[in-house]
Amino acid sequence: MKIFTITLAATLSLCASAAMAQQAAPAGNIENGKKHFNSDGCWQCHGTLGNGANLTGPKLANTELPFEAFLMQLRQPSNDMPPYEAKIVSDQTVADIYAYMKSLPKSPDAKSLPLLTGMGVK
Ligand code: HEC
Repeated sequence: MKIFTITLAATLSLCASAAMAQQAAPAGNIENGKKHFNSDGCWQCHGTLGNGANLTGPKLANTELPFEAFLMQLRQPSNDMPPYEAKIVSDQTVADIYAYMKSLPKSPDAKSLPLLTGMGVK
């Protein structure tokens, strides 16, 4: 029982530190992030306001990804996205882009748009 308690305590403290690490996204400059989102080509696949498109790239506006996952996708993309090395887009610039994306409102649900619901979107 004692071993179980110690293991549980260790696991909980590991979870707590992982959660803290996720919260610790570096401070980002929204204006600089916006500049780079446009000049580094992110908009071409993710849309000018990060709304994404089925054929080119997922929605990034108001992303719920933790910063580490956002950064990792640029360094080692999960699939079709081209990689961005740190010498092209620095960690700080990624933090700025992340702050910009976080600052954008979530795009509305397709079901709330009369034009689309009128076209049979359910
Ligand atoms: C040529 C198209 C293209 C460009 C340019 C591009 N992306 Fe992507 N991105 C994708 C695709 C496609 C995915 C889906 C995962 C994959 O294929 O790697 C993706 C996924 C992502 C994700 C993960 C989203 C999620 O919710 O899982 C992030 C974050 C991201 N891109 C950020 C960026 C940023 C920031 C830039 C600019 C520096 C950028 N992308 C430029 C196509 C692109």
